[in-house]
Amino acid sequence: LSESDQAMVPDLLSKTHAFAKNYMARYDSSHDFSHVLRVLNLAIHIAQTEQKYLQSVALVAPPATSVAPLYNTTIVTLAALLHDVGDKKYIQEGEEIDEFPVKTFLVGSGASEALGERVQTIVNGVSYSKEIKDPQRVLDLTELYPELAVVQDADRLDAIGAVGIGRTFTFAGAKGSGGPGMENVLKHFEEKLLRLGSMMKTKTGKEMAEKRIQVLRDFERCWLEEKTIAG
Ligand code: ADP
Ligand code: NI
Repeated sequence: LSESDQAMVPDLLSKTHAFAKNYMARYDSSHDFSHVLRVLNLAIHIAQTEQKYLQSVALVAPPATSVAPLYNTTIVTLAALLHDVGDKKYIQEGEEIDEFPVKTFLVGSGASEALGERVQTIVNGVSYSKEIKDPQRVLDLTELYPELAVVQDADRLDAIGAVGIGRTFTFAGAKGSGGPGMENVLKHFEEKLLRLGSMMKTKTGKEMAEKRIQVLRDFERCWLEEKTIAG
C-alpha cells in the first residue's frame, strides 16, 4: 500500500464495514451481512494458516529464514467485506448500474485509484460463473492478486457445510414460488456446491472444504433415506 493509503487504513476499514452492512440489507438472508462477516473471518483464518504453514516449512529447511507476508491483511479485509457488492443477481429495477461500485466506494472514501482498482479486480474475480467460463483467467489473477485466492475460498466455504445447507433453504424460502422450492434445493448441491471442493485455491481452503463437502453428502444421503420412507 502507498503511504497515503496506509494512513487511511483505520478510516477506510470502519467506513467499509458500515457501507457493507448497509449495502447487504438489500439482499435476502442467504446473502446478508452475517455471510459477509463469516467470509471475513474465514478469509483471515485461511491467510494466517497459510502463512504459518509456509513459515514452519521455512524454519525446518536450513538456512531458517523468515517468510515475507503472503497476503496483505488490509486487502483481504476490504475485499472480503465488499465481495458481494454489485452482484448482478440483485440489481433492483431502474437502478443505475455502476460497473465498478467497489472502486467508486473506496475512492470516494479516500483510497487511491490504485487501491480501489486492486480491490475491485479481486471482487470481480470471486465469481463462480465467470470462473466456469474461463478458469485460466482466475488462476492468472491469483498470481497477481494472491488475496483473491483467500477471499474466494472463504466465500465458497460459506456455501458448503452446515451453514451452506442453511443458506440454500434460506435462498429457496426468500425466492418463494418463483424460486427452486424446497424439493429442488438438492439439485443445487449437484449443480454447484459439490463442485466447489475441487475449485479451492489454498491448501487450508481445500482441507476445510473436504470436511464441509462430507456434511453435504451426509445430508443428501439422510434426505434420500427419509424420502424413501415418506414417498
Ligand atoms: P455468493 O454470491 O455468496 O457466492 P450465491 O449468490 O451463488 O452466493 O448464492 C447465495 C446463496 O444461495 C448460496 O449459499 C447458494 O448456495 C444459495 N443458492 C444460490 N442458488 C441456489 C439455488 N438454485 N438453490 C438453492 N440455493 C441456492
Ligand atoms: Ni458471498
